[in-house]
Amino acid sequence: MAVASRRTFLREVGLTCSAGALMGPKLMSKALAQTNASAIPGVTRVYVDNRRIIAPLERNLFGSFLEHLGRAIYGGIYEPASKLSDSNGFRKDTLEEIRQLGVPIIRYPGGNFVSGYNWLDGVGPKKDRPRVLDKAWDTIETNQFGTNEFLAWCKAAGALPLMGLNLGTGSSERAAALVEYCNLEKGTKWSDLRREHGIADPWKVQNWCLGNEMDGPWQIGHMTAAEYGLKAADAARQMRYVDPSLKLIACGSSGPFMPTYLEWDREVLEQCYDYVDGLSLHRYFGNNVRDTGGETQKYLAMNLSMERQIAETIAVCDLVRGHKRTSKKLWLSFDEWNVWYRTTSGDAVDGHRREAPHLLEEVYNLEDALLIGGLLNTLIRNADRVKIACLAQLVNVIAPLMTNANSVLRQTIFYPYSWALQFAHGASLNLFTESSTYEVTGLGQVPHLDVAGSLDAVNGEISLFVLNRDLAKQREVEVVWEDSAPSRERLMPGRLPAVT
Ligand code: AHR
Repeated sequence: MAVASRRTFLREVGLTCSAGALMGPKLMSKALAQTNASAIPGVTRVYVDNRRIIAPLERNLFGSFLEHLGRAIYGGIYEPASKLSDSNGFRKDTLEEIRQLGVPIIRYPGGNFVSGYNWLDGVGPKKDRPRVLDKAWDTIETNQFGTNEFLAWCKAAGALPLMGLNLGTGSSERAAALVEYCNLEKGTKWSDLRREHGIADPWKVQNWCLGNEMDGPWQIGHMTAAEYGLKAADAARQMRYVDPSLKLIACGSSGPFMPTYLEWDREVLEQCYDYVDGLSLHRYFGNNVRDTGGETQKYLAMNLSMERQIAETIAVCDLVRGHKRTSKKLWLSFDEWNVWYRTTSGDAVDGHRREAPHLLEEVYNLEDALLIGGLLNTLIRNADRVKIACLAQLVNVIAPLMTNANSVLRQTIFYPYSWALQFAHGASLNLFTESSTYEVTGLGQVPHLDVAGSLDAVNGEISLFVLNRDLAKQREVEVVWEDSAPSRERLMPGRLPAVT
């Protein structure tokens, strides 16, 4: 390992992770990260000061999502008939891959699916569970995998559950009943039902989503912002009567493409601000005519659009906070984000009343992986307000992992996700980056290099996550260690090849 000087040069292309072990790091308060056009064309400077911290990096920033959709559950993580499955029917290969990856939190069971889901169909003896039509994806749901199977699977995977509630066709009373079923020990109707179902100890699920994308006309039970805000407040109150320790997330806008974007969030929060802890955001990106005109340089800059979405949503949360004259600050749950644009219509989203059909099976390429790296950088830079985020989804459905009858396979987007999980520990660093820029319509001047960093105070390790958006050439990066230079440094092995 090389001993680093105060200024270190890294020559890189694509997406890179580098780490330096620092001597005696000190943590101090946050200031705004800035990016400037470099005076020396072609050279990028990253100023690292281990005293400049944005916020602690919650592990839940790198969560994921499993919906009853396509082959995510059936054939993805649960396949009792497979030779690869254990006695619970859990696919051992997928489970092990996810455990090793270290996914901290997993959202379940939807997604659009949850808004028509009756959780009672998915508990109790499997032979008695009904086959139902899932209207969200026109699929036959066998209910052989339900709440208890998911929570047991999560435990085995080392992940926390982020449970979604049906606020579409479901009532607040039924939502509170699920909390009682999952979290109370015994002596009440729903906790005793869980015990009858063979689960003696409560699961103690902490994080809950109050519905899914309720602003969308495509959503089962779609309603106005004021109606949803009132329902979310009522559900939250009833759920907290059962378990006051819950963390509750209200449904924010489904994305900036919605005509009600931000106005939805404001109206919802006017009704339920006092009863919830966080607000959700969703976003999917694509290199298509509508979003980027098929221009890769624009596509690779789209994480800056996510950055803007986060800033705008925080502004609305804080506006309502001002209206309410409360000291309570909401955090954000970016609980669906990914690249998704190739499998958004026709047979790719219609189950045609089959069981576990192949839906949303997007095949990812290199530029998708690069953008995923940029999106992760954006999440790291916004760790002060974004406390949960979920790469949507995890297996088979717009996913880093795909299964077939014999194995589990990694897609390109698996790699940047795995690097964030592996190296982004401790706290998010407030870096100052000087980079040359290029013009992108709608985004202005975009830096060629996108950099985020973390500092792990426990072992004194700094990690830098670098995305090179320059399609034409490699870039030289000069790292300026403002506080103390690392004793050694290394480039991480998992580099992606150059964009050609
Ligand atoms: O992740 C796929 C779908 O995208 C989810 O079901 C829905 O919430 C979103 O529109």
